[in-house]
Amino acid sequence: MKQMKREVIDILEEIKNLYLIGLLSGLVIYPTILTTGKLYPNMIRKQAVTRSVKSKTNKRPQALNTLLLCSSLNKGEKYFSVCSGCHSVEVSGTHKLGPNLWNVVFRSIAGCSNYIYSPALVKLSDLKWTFNNLNKFIKHPSSFVNGTYMNFSGIKDPIERMDILRYLNCNSFEPLSFDRFKFN
Ligand code: HEC
Repeated sequence: MKQMKREVIDILEEIKNLYLIGLLSGLVIYPTILTTGKLYPNMIRKQAVTRSVKSKTNKRPQALNTLLLCSSLNKGEKYFSVCSGCHSVEVSGTHKLGPNLWNVVFRSIAGCSNYIYSPALVKLSDLKWTFNNLNKFIKHPSSFVNGTYMNFSGIKDPIERMDILRYLNCNSFEPLSFDRFKFN
């Protein structure tokens, strides 16, 4: 009898310990997740998205849709600084070395009447600057348009490109909703 009582006490003791360990790890781990999430939201977003999509973006348009959906306007504005030496993006901005990019999304390619484009770009003027075309162009301009005057090596990181696309989309008369938009 005494022996049994001892065993029951041992088991209860064990349960209590397990409960305390559980409680403690909850107290430590949960707030850590919360604070890291708050401190590094962009890092976590970037890591999660990068892991799942980066290598597949060229073959999988839906991966680009995902990236575009979680793209960041602030980062896009920051990344645009590599473009802004050659491009303004304001509503009545003047052309610099490159044409003004206000409202460029879904504008006709080479569509500014008062800017002199390369013959190579003019050849494509029946097409529009869809997100697909913009993505390919800013990834590596001369691969998309052999003979373009845009002397720029391109943005290799798809996450950065999607952030820039969000920024360009916002700088237009009617920004498109990414929920309805699909890369194809
Ligand atoms: C060194 C200067 C330079 C840089 C940097 C540059 N561009 Fe350009 N961009 C040009 C020039 C020049 C053209 C005209 C190309 C042509 O006529 O072939 C152009 C054309 C374009 C066009 C076509 C516009 C139209 O009206 O058809 C887009 C879109 C564009 N650039 C986006 C960008 C983005 C986005 C960046 C930054 C990631 C960027 N450019 C960086 C010089 C530059």
